Amino acid sequence: MIRIVRRLAVLAAFVVVVCSVGARAQALHDKPGRAAIASAHTLATQAGFEVLEQGGNAFDAAVAVASTLAVVEPQSSGIGGGGLFLLRRASDGMEVMIDARETAPAAVDPKDYLQANGEPDRDHAVNGPLSAAIPGEPAGLAWLAKHYGKLPLSKSLAPAIRIAREGFQPDSRFLGELAMRKEVLSRYPASAALYLPNGEVPKQGWTFKTPDLARVLERIAEQGDAGFYQGEIAKRLVDSVREAGGKWSMEDLAHYQVKERTPLTFDYRGYHIVTAPPPSSGGIALAEMLNILSGYDLNKLDRVRRVHYIVEAMRRAFRDRAEYLGDPDFVKMPVAELTHPLYAAGLRASILPDKATPSDMLPGYMAPSQGTHTSHFSIIDKDGNLLCATQTVNTLFGSTFVVPGTGFVLNNEMDDFALVVGKPNAYGLVGSDNNAPKPGSRPLSSMTPSFVIGTDRIGVIGTPGGSRLITMVLEGILAFIDGELPEQFVGNPRYHHQYLPDVISAEKGAFTPDEVKALEAMGYTVSESERRWGFMNAVSWDRKSGQMHAGSDPRGVSGSGVVK
Ligand code: DON
Repeated sequence: MIRIVRRLAVLAAFVVVVCSVGARAQALHDKPGRAAIASAHTLATQAGFEVLEQGGNAFDAAVAVASTLAVVEPQSSGIGGGGLFLLRRASDGMEVMIDARETAPAAVDPKDYLQANGEPDRDHAVNGPLSAAIPGEPAGLAWLAKHYGKLPLSKSLAPAIRIAREGFQPDSRFLGELAMRKEVLSRYPASAALYLPNGEVPKQGWTFKTPDLARVLERIAEQGDAGFYQGEIAKRLVDSVREAGGKWSMEDLAHYQVKERTPLTFDYRGYHIVTAPPPSSGGIALAEMLNILSGYDLNKLDRVRRVHYIVEAMRRAFRDRAEYLGDPDFVKMPVAELTHPLYAAGLRASILPDKATPSDMLPGYMAPSQGTHTSHFSIIDKDGNLLCATQTVNTLFGSTFVVPGTGFVLNNEMDDFALVVGKPNAYGLVGSDNNAPKPGSRPLSSMTPSFVIGTDRIGVIGTPGGSRLITMVLEGILAFIDGELPEQFVGNPRYHHQYLPDVISAEKGAFTPDEVKALEAMGYTVSESERRWGFMNAVSWDRKSGQMHAGSDPRGVSGSGVVK
């Protein structure tokens, strides 16, 4: 009898434990039930919802958003470029990064990027066909749809095809950025015909139609990536690039392959960060910075000391970027070491509490200003699938080179290689041999699409911004973990340090005059500029309250974050 009573007591205790665990688990929502999309353009966000409403998931919506951005924001990304797509599937927790980064053509020759006097030829690096790498975006979209989507490309590409054919009215940012690239666009007849009617930057109110692009997208919708990388379109691209001095071949296009990469993951203050592995430098830099910062109680520090430690973490991560990183299929990198907490502890020990560490004895140079080109979007669907993509043609309107009859610019991603080792690229970044171009290799990227996964709150975060992209994502993650919502933190003023130049660059309003003085007294050079940078698009889901949020950077004119 006593034994039976004891057994019952044990059973009762077990039931209580199971029920209370169950009740706790039930307090968290399993599924959002609604979706959130933030992207750089209202039409792209709408395209994402259109495809969700047809039964698509976050990954189909990503195809719709990305292809629509190719039409409405061609200065930033498009099918002539590439991108990194980070996915988390709700049903089984699978996480993967689709690497649709561009590759160097087989005939790449570093001498093409040198002038006769041995100095870097910056024109070849960023303008025209020599600056263009083999695009990855079309293969990335086809891969996403085929392996992770629920809808055929004919449905997920439909909004982009429609907008390309019917036209839309470009916003003031588009027209302003067109003016910035007018001179180089004018060099190439098909580029000028597309973007500069009558040789001029159009006025606001202009309806921009791209029927050629609609036809290329239709071909991809019908044939998948073969519609782009083989056959008539491929031939047109190769002939035209070669005629204008570039080095592409039909084999380069036919051999292009998307790579599935295991995301880089680590923990910070109780949050699990899932982010971009090489060929992006972003995840490694983020891990290094957050590992260093995990040794400080940032919220207990005064603002100047907090900025000091964050900047010193940035400086050290960017030094390693320059030194070690490149394409993982071509070079060996000490990724496990660089992202190890013990390595960060060593770096932390080298930070003095009250003094800036000079980057090194080299004379510095100013990082060129970086804007909003490149495009990031973030999606959570009603089932909790997460998608975070940063995609790009590199600098504004990429190479500016449009192949006649195609309606899109080719990227200038060759400049993300260390074309001349030790010499800065368009973002002031230097690189080692590890990032020198090799036939078929991918240039090192800074793109850092990231998930921040806590027990209650999930954030999906990213932005454009060249080298500054990584530190913007860092600042976004810190703000999210501190409890800020996407609508708030996408607008926060930003600051950045990238090892070389040895300068903190800051948006106006990032620091008070007193903070600048205090930082200068610690040995920093602070360079404030009127220009604002980045275009962060972030979404979040609070599993406790069930609330979803979507924030689009106020720096972008037509950005849009919607929950519905
Ligand atoms: O992959 C990279 O790191 C660059 N091509 C990204 C360029 C970029 O973010 C430009 N935005 N301002």
